[in-house]
Amino acid sequence: MAELREVQITEEKPLLPGQTPEVAKTHSVETPYGSVTFTVYGTPKPKRPAILTYHDVGLNYKSCFQPLFQFADMQEIIQNFVRVHVDAPGMEEGAPVFPLGYQYPSLDQLADMIPCILQYLNFSTIIGIGVGAGAYVLSRYALTHPDTVEGLVLINIDPNAKGWMDWAAHKLTGLTSSISEMILGHLFSQEELSGNSELIQKYRNIIAHAPNLDNIELYWNSYNNRRDLNFVRGGDTTLKCPVMLVVGDQAPHEDAVVECNSKLDPTQTSFLKPGKLTEAFKYFLQGMGYMASSCMTRLSRSRTASLTSAASIDGNRSRSRTLSQSSESGTLSSGPPGHTMEVSC
Ligand code: BEZ
Repeated sequence: MAELREVQITEEKPLLPGQTPEVAKTHSVETPYGSVTFTVYGTPKPKRPAILTYHDVGLNYKSCFQPLFQFADMQEIIQNFVRVHVDAPGMEEGAPVFPLGYQYPSLDQLADMIPCILQYLNFSTIIGIGVGAGAYVLSRYALTHPDTVEGLVLINIDPNAKGWMDWAAHKLTGLTSSISEMILGHLFSQEELSGNSELIQKYRNIIAHAPNLDNIELYWNSYNNRRDLNFVRGGDTTLKCPVMLVVGDQAPHEDAVVECNSKLDPTQTSFLKPGKLTEAFKYFLQGMGYMASSCMTRLSRSRTASLTSAASIDGNRSRSRTLSQSSESGTLSSGPPGHTMEVSC
């Protein structure tokens, strides 16, 4: 496994008082499916997993995760973890366009590249955060390497292969729409697209004028050719770690995420919508034993009271089974019955 490139950059995010700038370091490693680039923020913390992110189609780690990771409320969480942000091959900033005929890795092969990254960094376990195609990749990785995944946050996941109806719709759309419009249709709802807000215009512009649009199309094709993850609740093919499922309001994948939720272990799975993401993530980590309740800001502690209908926050929980979903109510519960924290969606 040869290292190809290593670039050190100093991150420009606004600093909190008393904070020193974090150094971000970009690396590339060679894998059986080609090279993969990833950027590491922070320093490894003893006895803690790394947070590893995987972005969606049409984006890279920065355009996908910068808004979340630079959100003020996220700072007290992420300072406790080293973060590894993976760019799918050809999606890193300045990536050259792959030559014609290049065989882009399948999503399963993208998942198979992750052990090379962890081995290179000498990290043994992760908490994964994935969006869309990235959520699929991390789920596949967790199915094949369950002992190395302590938790997963899966945003807008569709665990199913495309059925023939989806293919027919996809082909029809392809007759009238450009690749960039099809990808926008994957990232945003029709309502959001027709609203054409500044955010939509920004992403439309980024994707339509991306110098690596041909590479993006290859990742898009791999996503559309994904196989079924075949989650079966109570079966062998299910995620063993705590999972936080997140779906956007009006997201195109809402039904798929709801169905996914029905196939995962309800004692290990939480389900929520994004307004509460940062706070829910904090409780998720806390439930795994990684955030003492004393680390929670007064603000978030007081917000908890207004968020919860039946709140009892127990900071001494065991690592597993903390945030569990009450499927029927669409609420997020923490801990065994009687120790329930609910976040209304
Ligand atoms: C981070 O702090 O992990 C981060 C910073 C910028 C972009 C994405 C992530």
